[in-house]
Amino acid sequence: MCGIFGCIVNEGEVAPLIHLALKRLEYRGYDSAGIATVYKGLLFLKKDSGRIDEIHEKLDLNSLPGMIGIGHTRWATHGAPNMENAHPHTDCTGKIAIAHNGIIENYIEIKKSLESKGHIFKSRTDSEVFAHLIEDNIKNNMSFEDSVKQAVKLISGSYAIAAIHADEDKILCVKNESPLIIGISDNGVFCASDIPALLPYTNRVIELFDGEMAILSLRNIKIIRIKDESIVQRYETIIDWSMDMAEKGGFPHFMLKEIYEQPRAIRDALRIDKRLINIASMLIENSDRLFLVACGTSYHACLAISYIFSELSLINAIPCIASEFLKSYAQLVDESTVVIAVSQSGETRDTLTAVKNAKMRGAQIIGVTNVIGSELARISDIYLNMQAGPEIGVAATKTYISQLTLLSLLAINFSHNYGLASENIYRRLLSELYEASVIIEKYLRRIDNEAKRIAQVIAPRENVFYLSRGINVASALEGALKLKEISYIHAEGYPAGESKHGPIALVEEGFPCIFITPTGETSVKILGNIMEMKARGAKIISITQDDAHEVKEVSDIFISIESNLSEILTPIIFSPPLQLIAYHTAILRLKDPDKPRNLAKSVTVP
Ligand code: G6P
Repeated sequence: MCGIFGCIVNEGEVAPLIHLALKRLEYRGYDSAGIATVYKGLLFLKKDSGRIDEIHEKLDLNSLPGMIGIGHTRWATHGAPNMENAHPHTDCTGKIAIAHNGIIENYIEIKKSLESKGHIFKSRTDSEVFAHLIEDNIKNNMSFEDSVKQAVKLISGSYAIAAIHADEDKILCVKNESPLIIGISDNGVFCASDIPALLPYTNRVIELFDGEMAILSLRNIKIIRIKDESIVQRYETIIDWSMDMAEKGGFPHFMLKEIYEQPRAIRDALRIDKRLINIASMLIENSDRLFLVACGTSYHACLAISYIFSELSLINAIPCIASEFLKSYAQLVDESTVVIAVSQSGETRDTLTAVKNAKMRGAQIIGVTNVIGSELARISDIYLNMQAGPEIGVAATKTYISQLTLLSLLAINFSHNYGLASENIYRRLLSELYEASVIIEKYLRRIDNEAKRIAQVIAPRENVFYLSRGINVASALEGALKLKEISYIHAEGYPAGESKHGPIALVEEGFPCIFITPTGETSVKILGNIMEMKARGAKIISITQDDAHEVKEVSDIFISIESNLSEILTPIIFSPPLQLIAYHTAILRLKDPDKPRNLAKSVTVP
C-alpha cells in the first residue's frame, strides 16, 4: 500500500524525476512522502507527513542533489503518519537509506536485538530495522550487497525494498509478496512499485520475483536468487500502455476518466484468449466445489457472477469475502475444489492468503486480475487478465466492469460447454455482452447530467439505501460502497425484499432510496418494495430500463437506460450510473474522489 521508486541517471539530477514518479504512485498511499539521494559520498534526505504537493511546497523536493536516489509515498501501517515515520529511513551513520512497501512481521524482536547493540531508532515503523540491519552487517565488514542479502534472510513478512548507500553508485532492490518492477532507458535505470510511475521515463521493464535481489547500476542490472545466490537471466518486456492511459486525459479526476473508459474496458476484457476461458471452464467442470473469493468491489463482482452460474448452469458458486474464507470455507477445500480469485491489483493480502491456503489444500486457482506480474497472476493455475489498463482512482470503477465482463464470459462459456445454455442462448448472451459496451457508450454523457441531479438530492443527506433483487443486489451493494468510499455518506445496500426486516425503520420524510430495477418479473416484485418505502416518505430514485414504465411513474427521479439486455447482464449497464452518482455527490461535498481518506488502492496487509 505504499509506493516506492528509485533511479540512477547518467545525466541531470534524480530528485525531480523521483518527485514526478511519486506523484504517479500517490494513489498507493498519501499520508507522507520523502526522497533520499546520494551525492559526493553524502546522503541527502527530505521527508514529511502530508500529501506530496504540500511537502514539496514546504521542502522543495526537487532540490536534492545527485544522480542516484529513492523515494516513497506512504499509507501508514506501523506508526502514525508523521515526519519521523515517513520513508526513506536511515541507519545510525546517516549513510544508508531504505524505502519499504509491505510489513516486516518480526521487526519487534529484530529491533530489540539491534537496540541492545546500541542502534538508535528514530521512528516507530517496522521498516527502519532494515536500514540498521544493513548498517550492522557493514560494520562486520560485509559489502553493501552482502549486507542487504544477509538482512533479507533475517526478516519475514511482505516487502519490496529499495536501498542506497552514500558510498555506492547502485540501488539494491529486494522483494517478497509486494510488487517491484525494474525499468531501463537510455538515460538510466529505475525501480518502481507500479508501471504508471515508470511510463514518463521508459516502457522497457524487467520483472523481479519473490526471493530475488536486483543490483541496479548504470553499468548493468544483475538479478540474483537470494536463497542460493544464483544469477537469474531475465529479458525485458515492452509495456504497451501509453502515457495518456495513465494520465487524466482532460477529465478533472481519474475516477471520471475511468468511468468514461468503461465501454473500452468491456471490449478489452472480451479480447481474452478464448482458449483460457475454455480451460477455466474445464477446470470448473472437473471440480466438485466452486468458490469465488475477493475483497471490496471485486467481491461484488463475485456475488453477481454466482447468480449467473446458478441460473445458467445450476451450479452453486459460493461467493466469499476473502478475509472470511479461512474460517468459513477453507475446511471444505480439497483437490476437487476450484477457487476463482478476483482482484484488480492482484496484491490484496486477504485474497492472496485465501488463495495460498486453498492451493495448499490442493485446489485449482483461476486468478482474475488487472496486473501482469502481480502475485495473484503468478500463483494462479490459470490467469485471466482483465486488460483494463491502469486504474488510478482509488475507488474501483472500470476494473469492476472488466471483472463483471470477464466473469460473465466465463460463466456463459461454462454453461454453453457443460451447463444449460443452448447454442442460441449462448450466442445471444455473447452478443449482449458486446452490446453492453455500445449501450454504455451511447448513454454516458446523458446520464452524467442525470446523475448530477440525483447527487444534489443525496449530497445534503446523512444516509442512503440502495435496494434491488436478484443479481442486482450486487449492484446495490456496489453502489452503496462507492458512495461511502468517496462521499463519506453512510449508505447501505440491501436485498429489497429484506428491507422491511430492519432498514425500513430508518425511513422518514425525504430519505433517499435508490432502487436498481431491471425490467420484467424483478421489476414487478421491486415495485412492491418501492411502494413500501414511498408510503413512509422516502425519496424514490430509480436506475431502470426504458420499458419499466410503472417503476418510472412512482419514482421521484430516475435514470432510464435503453436496453433489452438479459437480466443477468444488467449489472454491467447499471454500474456506471451508480458510479456517477457517487462521483458527483463527492464533488458537491468538496471531497477528492480520487483519493478518499483512509483508503488505499491496493491493500497489502491482512
Ligand atoms: C481496496 C480498494 C477497493 C478494492 C479492494 C479490493 O479496499 O480501495 O476499491 O475493491 O481494495 O482490491 P482488489 O485489488 O483485490 O480488487
